[in-house]
Amino acid sequence: MTFQNELINWYLLNKRDLPWRHTNDAYTIWLSEVILQQTRVEQGLPYFNKFLENFPTVNDFASATEAKVLKLWQGLGYYSRGRNMHATAQIVVKDYHGIFPNLHDELIKLKGIGEYTAAAISSFSSGEARAVVDGNVFRVLSRYYGIATAINSPAGKKEFFTLANELLYQDDPALYNQAIMEFGAMQCKPKSPNCGICPLNQTCYAFNHKMVNELPVKLKKAAQKHRYINYFICFDDEQVVVRERQAGDVWQHLYDFPSIETLIHEDTASSLFAEMVKNTFGKDADFKLISTKKHILTHQIIHVQFFVLKNYIFNFNKQKELNWVSLNKLDELPQPKVIHDFVQEYFFRDKME
Ligand code: ADE
Repeated sequence: MTFQNELINWYLLNKRDLPWRHTNDAYTIWLSEVILQQTRVEQGLPYFNKFLENFPTVNDFASATEAKVLKLWQGLGYYSRGRNMHATAQIVVKDYHGIFPNLHDELIKLKGIGEYTAAAISSFSSGEARAVVDGNVFRVLSRYYGIATAINSPAGKKEFFTLANELLYQDDPALYNQAIMEFGAMQCKPKSPNCGICPLNQTCYAFNHKMVNELPVKLKKAAQKHRYINYFICFDDEQVVVRERQAGDVWQHLYDFPSIETLIHEDTASSLFAEMVKNTFGKDADFKLISTKKHILTHQIIHVQFFVLKNYIFNFNKQKELNWVSLNKLDELPQPKVIHDFVQEYFFRDKME
């Protein structure tokens, strides 16, 4: 049996029942694919359902506020994806009469849709013959064919892309694409795959050469950067000071609190730190540490300290990004995950219990 037939047979017996596999609607598939680029299936499912409930059509998505989109996206991270989705929905309404494109060459023009997503949406919704190449596909092909070119090098990307398209099962590209991705996710797993039960093990290069743990090859990334952010919480019985992150920031249009970023971890007892706080918030400023958190992103680890601040001075005219917000509106603002977690613990503890 061919590689393709083995994969498809395996898929028909082992596939998970996932909601986006019951539709060929390009809009619905787009929602699922963008979310699944950001997270695993189990974690992505509730987000997919939430988005579809709130925005049953691309028109509903396009007419929502950005804050609502970011609120629904909250927790997935990499917020530019959420913003790109919103922009794309608006373009589809404006330029495509609200009919989501289902062909690769139109899809690739849209914001936030790259080669992978264009291939996935076009093959799943229109049956177009475009091979998907995601992390699962890289792994399956590199192991089965014994390809040691780094998957994150330009040469590797080209080599795997060419091979994937040569292998694409032309009679049913959608079925084949689902099959190879599912096979990568469930059988040819990154760590400790159970090769003993794999239907492809007899002809698998990596299995036969004891190289399953060595493939695929990936070039090492630059070391992660550490950042140290100290947040200052100023509140009374009814309201709290928030800051809206500005354009050009990774957290653009998300809300956090006034902060001081330092180059190293600042001990709260350090007199240098006390001086920085007083320089920023006035000489009478008084602060107390209430919580610390660590937020791990792809390229950076953010160490966060939260302080309650009293006797502060703000110049709201100069610092236009700062604003008082009522405590009962705080939960509606889109926030970075680390801020959301803190807000829930500190301001809405009763609700969580
Ligand atoms: N990951 C990305 N796309 C997927 C899909 N369509 N099904 C399952 N997992 C996926």
